[in-house]
Amino acid sequence: MIAVITGATGDIGEEFVKKLISEVDYVWAVGRSENKLAALKNTYGDKIVPVKADLSDKDEIYSVCAKIEKEKPSIKYLVNNAGVAKMAPVSEFSLEEISNMLDINDKAATLMCRVCIPYMAKDSYILNIASASAFQPNPYIALYSASKAYLLSFTRSLNVENDDITCTAVCPGWVDTKMLPKANKGKDIKYPGMVTADQVVDAALKDCKKGKDVSVCSFYYRYMRFLSKVMPHRTLMKFWVKGIRQYL
Ligand SMILES: NC(=O)c1ccc[n+]([C@@H]2O[C@H](COP(=O)([O-])OP(=O)(O)OC[C@H]3O[C@@H](n4cnc5c(N)ncnc54)[C@H](OP(=O)(O)O)[C@@H]3O)[C@@H](O)[C@H]2O)c1
Repeated sequence: MIAVITGATGDIGEEFVKKLISEVDYVWAVGRSENKLAALKNTYGDKIVPVKADLSDKDEIYSVCAKIEKEKPSIKYLVNNAGVAKMAPVSEFSLEEISNMLDINDKAATLMCRVCIPYMAKDSYILNIASASAFQPNPYIALYSASKAYLLSFTRSLNVENDDITCTAVCPGWVDTKMLPKANKGKDIKYPGMVTADQVVDAALKDCKKGKDVSVCSFYYRYMRFLSKVMPHRTLMKFWVKGIRQYL
């Protein structure tokens, strides 16, 4: 029985490694950096199976899929955690940046679900790490937000299509990881309602075991989700842009 975790070398990814390693025989840790994968193996031991792949590269993601189809492991957890973000208007993204973001945040996660599901038995779990930014459109992180909205929608449908597998879209707000810049123009950046990777992963594992298709780890972001259901998105976007203007 294994867990497959993409972005296992990142902050939230490593937290999943830490919390799932005792539940499975092996963790297939998917990452693009050989050194970081080696460090993960040093820390967590021989249960770590490093799977080196840059998920923005079509051949490399296909080779991970081929490895799964060849070895046919029994998969208890699939955690699609790898992701990238950039705050900027869409006009400032290169075509390659757009393509890479969608490949990593959406295409890789989708292919991994498709290829892993045949090897997932009853009472297994897919956790797709989306974001609270999936709940409404967010200008200046438009691409990131839209990519996470895709993941939220896809995961909830997948959960209905697969009776034996609980599929959960994990939707945290700001999480204190290296993905978030700490300062801008010499000023510390304040992230409202920020939580730790440990809190996100704890809540995600509890929620998936309760059969929930969405996991939001803090009251603050559960409230934000509620607002996104009852308030016009045009209004919410105005608040969002007002809040982030100082960092643009
Ligand atoms: N931090 C937040 O505020 C926040 C909020 C909501 C959702 N999330 C989501 O949480 C997930 C984990 O992010 P994090 O906050 O833990 O940030 P992180 O520490 O930067 O982790 C991101 C992970 O994605 C991997 N990755 C990036 N590009 C890749 C590529 N081309 N191929 C393979 N792996 C790649 C990174 O690999 P390297 O280690 O090699 O860089 C890293 O392991 C992401 O999906 C993110 O969108 C984060």
